[in-house]
Amino acid sequence: MRGDVNTIKERLDIAEVVSGYVKLEKAGAGLKARCPFHNEKTPSFFVSPTRQNFYCFGCGAKGDIFTFVEQVEGLEFRDALRLLAEKAGVELDYQRGESRTEKDNVLEVLEKATLFFEKELAKSKLARSYITSRGISNATVKSWRIGYAPDDWRLLFSYLQDMGYDKEIITKAGLIKTSETSANKEPYDVFRDRIIFPLADSNGRIIAFSGRALSKETEPKYLNSPDTIVFTKSEVLYGLDKAKEYIRKQNYAVLVEGQMDLVTSHQAGINNTVATSGTAFSRAHLERLKHLSTRIILAFDGDSAGEKATEKASILGVSLGFEVKVASLPEGLDPAEVASKKPEEWKNILRQSLPAVEFFFNTVQGQEKDSRKLGKQIEKKILPMIKLTKSAIEQSYYISLIAKRTGIKEEILWEDLRKAVAPSVNLQGQTYVEDVNTKKDDDVIQKSYQEVIEERLTEVRLWLKDLSDSAPEIALLKKEEAELKNNLSGVILRDELNNLLSELSQAELSKNNKLIEKLTARIRELHGQIRALEEKKKIL
Ligand code: GTP
Ligand code: MN
Repeated sequence: MRGDVNTIKERLDIAEVVSGYVKLEKAGAGLKARCPFHNEKTPSFFVSPTRQNFYCFGCGAKGDIFTFVEQVEGLEFRDALRLLAEKAGVELDYQRGESRTEKDNVLEVLEKATLFFEKELAKSKLARSYITSRGISNATVKSWRIGYAPDDWRLLFSYLQDMGYDKEIITKAGLIKTSETSANKEPYDVFRDRIIFPLADSNGRIIAFSGRALSKETEPKYLNSPDTIVFTKSEVLYGLDKAKEYIRKQNYAVLVEGQMDLVTSHQAGINNTVATSGTAFSRAHLERLKHLSTRIILAFDGDSAGEKATEKASILGVSLGFEVKVASLPEGLDPAEVASKKPEEWKNILRQSLPAVEFFFNTVQGQEKDSRKLGKQIEKKILPMIKLTKSAIEQSYYISLIAKRTGIKEEILWEDLRKAVAPSVNLQGQTYVEDVNTKKDDDVIQKSYQEVIEERLTEVRLWLKDLSDSAPEIALLKKEEAELKNNLSGVILRDELNNLLSELSQAELSKNNKLIEKLTARIRELHGQIRALEEKKKIL
């Protein structure tokens, strides 16, 4: 065992392992990220490639690759060891001869089924011509392992039985079922006469299937595997195994709703696309993305169902602290159609996506020509969404945008905003206070962020000066002033923090223990102060 642990440690680099879960940025000689173990806006999670360990100044989590994987995946040491062994290509001593778990067996059956569906697709001219007609290339078929389940009741079942798998494990894999009503109690294949999209976990192992009916008459159009010990439908993001690298690098994800949309979007070169599998985007989906990037583009169908889904997902995303943009699909088209036929157009559509508030503002403005009705719609639909952003800076940006484009006075919009109620989303009992305005993507944004606050602060102060003591907006402006001052202190503290952190990595390199101690103490102090500021922000 000890030998295995050491071999794995030699072969794997902590930075590589950690970067599979969170987006790492350079910080002196080390790397930093937003901590995956507690909710935070400022990175306080540090990885040291020299010492091959991690430490979070925010929550105190620390350890090596094994501790990291245990905590981030919620695994026991043995399972973390197994996962890392696989990653490192090390065969574990104790694994030889150890009894395999049911999960292993289910995964193995699913892999065999995937191969079966792939082979069947190669054999079926009809299925292949359907795929071609949908604009899916051979390369896409290969890389997504798209397959075909033949029009037969028990072909897969017999195939797997012949390979030595028993009824029980094939049922547990969600591939066969037994009729409760019919006299024939012989199990039959779940997927028949369907194009098969295998769904993978984030390591690329197949955990379920989604089958698209070949014929128009077949109901349902899409059929998914039932939930099993390896598959929870409401949590899986289709394509995440392939997209995660790109989402992290490009620092945003494209969200689509369908299997076809997903594969064709990748085919068009948008490799940071993920999809749900026949469910609406939920908190669980977004939680998975959060570690990779907090910026998303929603690209749903260009119909009324698509628009409704977009609204829901926007509200959810903004509530969870995401920066949400919306891509506008031509009326009646879905991403798959555009991406497969006109890949360049698909890229343009994504490039032209707008912040959610602006997108919905445009939509209402396009629908309501009557200015009084437009005002009502803004009050009903747009202001609540603006309220959701919580950030004073973003709020004032949108208020002034709407004022400019409608002629409604800013003061009136502010007054209505004060009364507006942010739409509630089901966050399953957890409170989530995350200001979009404290999120920084890179140093360029960080620099201008301070300037933005200072400018706005000057503006607010000038405004206050001009008002008579009884003006109704004084309270609002005072509140904004307090928030801005608070944010400004935050920026300054974080600045000092960043400097100290690079000093710390220098000190670590030169093994200057005295200095390390001194810096660590001050860093803790700063973290405390930043947290206190964030607490204060909640009260403000
Ligand atoms: P195609 O017609 O193959 O292009 O599918 P689509 O993606 O255009 O389908 P649609 O826009 O109708 O639905 C979007 C997604 O919702 C699909 O990709 C499926 O994931 C899911 N979906 C659609 N119909 C069904 C259904 O009948 N059952 C289930 N479980 N999911 C469905
Ligand atoms: Mn569609």
